[in-house]
Amino acid sequence: MLETKNLSKKFGGLRALWDVNTKIEQGTIHGLIGPNGSGKSTFFNLITGIYQPDLGSHINFAGQDITTRSAHQIAELGVSRTFQLLRLFLDMTVLENVMVGYHCHSPYGILSPIFLGTKVRKAENIIREEMIELLEFLGLAEFADIPASELSGGQKKLLSLGRAIAMKPKLLLLDEPGAGLSPVNIDNLMDTILTLKERYKLTVIVVEHVLKLVMNTCERITVLDHGKKIAEGTPEEVKGNRSVVEAYLGKEMADEEIRRVFTG
Ligand SMILES: Nc1ncnc2c1ncn2[C@@H]1O[C@H](COP(=O)(O)OP(=O)(O)OP(=O)(O)O)[C@@H](O)[C@H]1O
Ligand SMILES: [Mg+2]
Repeated sequence: MLETKNLSKKFGGLRALWDVNTKIEQGTIHGLIGPNGSGKSTFFNLITGIYQPDLGSHINFAGQDITTRSAHQIAELGVSRTFQLLRLFLDMTVLENVMVGYHCHSPYGILSPIFLGTKVRKAENIIREEMIELLEFLGLAEFADIPASELSGGQKKLLSLGRAIAMKPKLLLLDEPGAGLSPVNIDNLMDTILTLKERYKLTVIVVEHVLKLVMNTCERITVLDHGKKIAEGTPEEVKGNRSVVEAYLGKEMADEEIRRVFTG
């Protein structure tokens, strides 16, 4: 589904990403982890065309070279994402937020019901049904008609996940979906992500500091440190990898949760 070769990005003198080679298999959930500033969000920004990679980098998505494509073109090919800092339309209702996601892919555009005839309005109703079903999956259907600003932090995270899925992607990139959630909500989120992946036949890459979520959900994991890939494999392989343990335990990030993951 996705392959990168020598994927690199410099910001001035800083190498945010450095010759990263990786392959993400179709239909899998793939974890991307690493300490703060290791290049995870940069990886997403390069895949989605927000930043242009350095010369010599290659990105292949679903058989197409997307290295120099624009963000818009890449989204159209079927890559969608959530952001580390949520970007919801807070004045719009919960339902309208997912409708916007959908309309990024609709041939009619969001204002069409005003300008076009009943045929489009009918299509609009079908989409509405579909989007309400998606909200039901996320446990947000009862909030469909309230402004997104009134949701709790955790509910807003679910809504941003919903909006990304409404775009009908083939590849879904999740940047820290678990951040700020309580442990119970994190368990629910893991279940939700797995269910959504099956139902919408997604390939998922998830960046996450909550290592429990990554270890329990992902089939394979890539580990970055200072912009370089330092390890890749199954959760078990990664957990037992010396350089991974050093990258984490050697830093201030060596909190209780991380110690528990690596020391069992
Ligand atoms: N637009 C930018 N301009 C300059 N430097 C940047 C830019 N974006 C990222 N960087 C730098 O690149 C490095 C990697 O940043 P990135 O955001 O990819 O890290 P991250 O792994 O997502 O970290 P975190 O876990 O804290 O979210 C950092 O040193 C960061 O300061
Ligand atoms: Mg980040």
